Amino acid sequence: MPDARRFAPATERNRTAILDVLREVLPDAGCVLEIASGSGEHAVWFARHLPHLQFQPSDPDPVNRASIAAWTAHTAVTNVLEPIALDATDPDWPLPHRPSAVLCINMIHIAPWSATLGLLRGAAAALSSGGVLYLYGPFRRGGTHTSESNAMFDADLRGRNASWGVRDLETVVDAAQAAGFAVPTTIAMPANNQSVFFRRA
Ligand SMILES: C[S@@+](CC[C@H](N)C(=O)[O-])C[C@H]1O[C@@H](n2cnc3c(N)ncnc32)[C@H](O)[C@@H]1O
Repeated sequence: MPDARRFAPATERNRTAILDVLREVLPDAGCVLEIASGSGEHAVWFARHLPHLQFQPSDPDPVNRASIAAWTAHTAVTNVLEPIALDATDPDWPLPHRPSAVLCINMIHIAPWSATLGLLRGAAAALSSGGVLYLYGPFRRGGTHTSESNAMFDADLRGRNASWGVRDLETVVDAAQAAGFAVPTTIAMPANNQSVFFRRA
């Protein structure tokens, strides 16, 4: 049987730093919905280290969903649910369980702005008051890139797809507040990335 696992090398570089933040911001129990799980390597890593939580991975791409399922089987973690097909822009998210937190790592700059708005709208609808929305990735701050490498990455993204690009954190925060989230906490991460976590107001 072919091995459906995909390998995204960046996940090995950023997963420990992200996990350290998640230990602080995730609730003590419940289901954590991951949007845009990609290969699934993050989901199984977080699940292994946070065994008191259940993880619900998702991705719109069936090849990624096969990879997530393959990583779950390969690592034999028991707290990762079957991946679901979920596009953040879907008006109704097909959630089998109500999440107590929503994670979205490295999606909003590699998708049209409508995906960010869908993410914020869907997460606000899915979470109860106090529920956590965690974002990770590169952001512009105060209208400028935080590093030369992020500026180059942004130009590369926009060259690949004009609707992609590193977002302004302030614009994301404004949209999140309009969707029903409180002022976020932002943590500088390695390699010029940011962790941004919001609570549902
Ligand atoms: C760069 S990958 C990041 C994957 C993973 N989170 C990681 O950090 O390795 C971007 C992911 O966003 C997903 N994606 C793109 N558009 C999306 C959308 N509208 N809704 C949900 N996921 C989307 C892609 O399928 C892909 O898995």
